[in-house]
Amino acid sequence: MKRYGIILVAAIVSLAFTTSSWADCPQPRKTRSAPANIASKDMTGQANAANGKKLYTKTAKPLACKMCHGDKGDGMGKLGKALNPKPRNFTCSETMKDISAGQMFWIVKNGSAGTGMAAHGKTLKDKEIWDVVKYIRETWVH
Ligand code: HEC
Repeated sequence: MKRYGIILVAAIVSLAFTTSSWADCPQPRKTRSAPANIASKDMTGQANAANGKKLYTKTAKPLACKMCHGDKGDGMGKLGKALNPKPRNFTCSETMKDISAGQMFWIVKNGSAGTGMAAHGKTLKDKEIWDVVKYIRETWVH
């Protein structure tokens, strides 16, 4: 009986590990590169991070970014966990070091084909996209 208990505990522990909720870092990345002239663009200087936060956590359509990218920016939002590939983990500097503000802008606007990342060019103005990019970079990308 005791032995059975140990096996049961081991099974639960290993299950907890395989369905673990740790964010990957470095993270596999399916998203393609933006055109060079856009990747090098950065309009976050004039952008409004507070408005970006509102969009990220609440108001962006079709879904608030946090539903997938998570409250902590680690890609572990409620919907994000189930996706393959997983949403970008903005807190992973090893992956984010090569991702510019312009690259982020381009993907938020146009989406990332073959992933759950939708295009927001019809629901967000360019200015709003720069706001949310600024919020993400200020909060998590270091
Ligand atoms: C339905 C889930 C979902 C929502 C909602 C979502 N994303 Fe994503 N996002 C993803 C996935 C999946 C990827 C692709 C990951 C990959 O490249 O492998 C991604 C990728 C990205 C990237 C990656 C850029 C790169 O070059 O790697 C950025 C930036 C981004 N999302 C920002 C946002 C912002 C800002 C919002 C809100 C306006 C948002 N996302 C909403 C799922 C989502």
